[in-house]
Amino acid sequence: MSGLTPEAFRARFPLLATRVYVNSCSQGALSLDVESAIAAFTASWHAHGSPWDRWVGEVERLRTAFAATIGADADEIAVMPSASAAIGAIATALPFDGDRRQVVLGEFEFPTLAHIWLAQQRRGASIAWARSQGDTLSVDAYAAQIDERTLIVPATHVCFRNGFRLDVARLAALCRDRGAYVLLDDYQRTGTGPIDVHALGVDFMVTGTLKYLLGPSGVAFLYVRRALVERLEPFVTGWFGRVDPFAFALEPLDWSPTARRFEAGTPPVPNAYAAAAGLSLLQSVGLDVVERQVNRLVARFAEGVLTRGFDVATPADPARRGPLVVVRAADAGELVKRLDARGIIASSRGTGLRVSFHAYNNDEDVDAVLSALDAEASLICGAPCV
Ligand SMILES: Cc1ncc(COP(=O)(O)O)c(C=O)c1O
Repeated sequence: MSGLTPEAFRARFPLLATRVYVNSCSQGALSLDVESAIAAFTASWHAHGSPWDRWVGEVERLRTAFAATIGADADEIAVMPSASAAIGAIATALPFDGDRRQVVLGEFEFPTLAHIWLAQQRRGASIAWARSQGDTLSVDAYAAQIDERTLIVPATHVCFRNGFRLDVARLAALCRDRGAYVLLDDYQRTGTGPIDVHALGVDFMVTGTLKYLLGPSGVAFLYVRRALVERLEPFVTGWFGRVDPFAFALEPLDWSPTARRFEAGTPPVPNAYAAAAGLSLLQSVGLDVVERQVNRLVARFAEGVLTRGFDVATPADPARRGPLVVVRAADAGELVKRLDARGIIASSRGTGLRVSFHAYNNDEDVDAVLSALDAEASLICGAPCV
């Protein structure tokens, strides 16, 4: 299967025949391909009992396939159980005892990102905040905080709460100039378009498979720039972080020369099967095609809600938004329930209704959501809601 059109891609998702699905920012829809991959895992378990060589080989194939989609090398990728575990591996590997011990956080982070770095205060980290201005977070707000004391700037590409997209290229260049590391949380964007981590110049990147990469929970990825891999040793480790896990040696505590050193225990094999199928399905469409389709749908929807005078939290500038558009509602939770009753699956965070698009969505989905919002307009803010 290659060169899938968005229409053929859409046909791989049974859910889309009966529902309008605009909640990929929470969980990607289930494809026939991912369903078959899960069945392939269980079949291999039934047939062979414990085919560990095959299963570990599947995880390695996933590592290589993911690396290729972000312009990285396979030895720069750790396969992790969650984005939190990936961020924690880097946080605990960094020293907070020198002149550079400051972490600069932005206000649009997913909570886990704040929690992990706040926890490092016990190890000597100090925290500074890049403050947002309303629904935007400028690189200038970061620039005001990053200086010769800054060790790392963990930053989220697309905000889960309002859909704002940070200018990561500018932030990475700024961090480089000032000698700070930058860790990109790309979870709310990966799978909706190409990225080249080497060209972007980030030191670390984390993401996971359950949203736009179309996989299940239980698999996340950590990219570590090659030159940094062998300088870092995390405080949480295990046998899969060793040079040769299958040597089964208690000592020495040697560290894999690759990013596998950030892994700990037995990899999540069933999830890896499913994640590989999701990735491969996306590749058969092509991430550039996916990006064009997502941008087109987001533009159509954003224009629709802005024209109606709804209070839209996501920037109108296409460069500052990703696959997610957020509309403020007096009771966003109730609005999600009302949309569900109309056959539309969306989600809410705080006062925001989240509507997110993938390449499997189409113009009819956009128009169906807009019509449903017209019908439920009494719940939507036309002027800023608090
Ligand atoms: C931007 C972002 N980062 C991190 C996470 C958390 O990922 P995990 O649960 O794998 O740690 C999420 C989850 O939705 C997210 O949206």
